[in-house]
Amino acid sequence: MEQRKPSESSVIMTELVLPNDTNLFGNLMGGRLMYWMDIAAALSAGKHCNAPVVTASVDNISFESPIKLGNVVHIEARVTRSFNTSMEVHLKVWGEDLTHQYKYKSNEAYYTFVALDPNRKPRTVPALTPETEDEQKLFEGALRRRQLRLILGGKMKPNDATELKALFQVQ
Ligand SMILES: CC(C)(COP(=O)(O)OP(=O)(O)OC[C@H]1O[C@@H](n2cnc3c(N)ncnc32)[C@H](O)[C@@H]1OP(=O)(O)O)[C@@H](O)C(=O)NCCC(=O)NCCS
Repeated sequence: MEQRKPSESSVIMTELVLPNDTNLFGNLMGGRLMYWMDIAAALSAGKHCNAPVVTASVDNISFESPIKLGNVVHIEARVTRSFNTSMEVHLKVWGEDLTHQYKYKSNEAYYTFVALDPNRKPRTVPALTPETEDEQKLFEGALRRRQLRLILGGKMKPNDATELKALFQVQ
């Protein structure tokens, strides 16, 4: 089985917040940000598997701090774990005020993509081998996050989510 490193799927996207991207308060609209995040994450998943991918699900996103008109948006994406035909991508979003020279965290999210074959059927993807301690933590957590999203999507019975259930079991 082919092995890939998380760093091989790294994508950094940079955008400038223009008037047409903002809400009535002069902040970047959440929907526009999620659109950019979807593209960055799809590029990352595509780099991992070298195949066309579709978004299967998006985990909850909390917008911690707004990104203002005229600020820069940085989106960092990389695959945390691959399963059979699906891949989890972790995204970190930063805003940057170029005039006052500071960067601030906006939000984090996990997107899941599925690779498709020419007949638009899910196809297997290469395995992922974490290298750093952070990558190892994200890799381990990915199994529990996958179980939660499959339960919420009606694709897994809670009883089958062994690793997720273990989190709540009192020793
Ligand atoms: C995502 C999609 C390909 C899954 O197809 P499916 O027929 O349900 O396939 P399967 O049940 O065999 O699942 C295939 C993979 O998708 C994963 N998957 C399915 N639903 C999921 C969900 N809600 N969240 C996360 N992963 C999901 C499965 O876990 C499986 O991954 P694995 O092979 O690594 O275990 C299909 O639902 C689809 O095409 N959806 C629309 C995608 C799209 O158009 N996205 C853009 C937004 S509109």
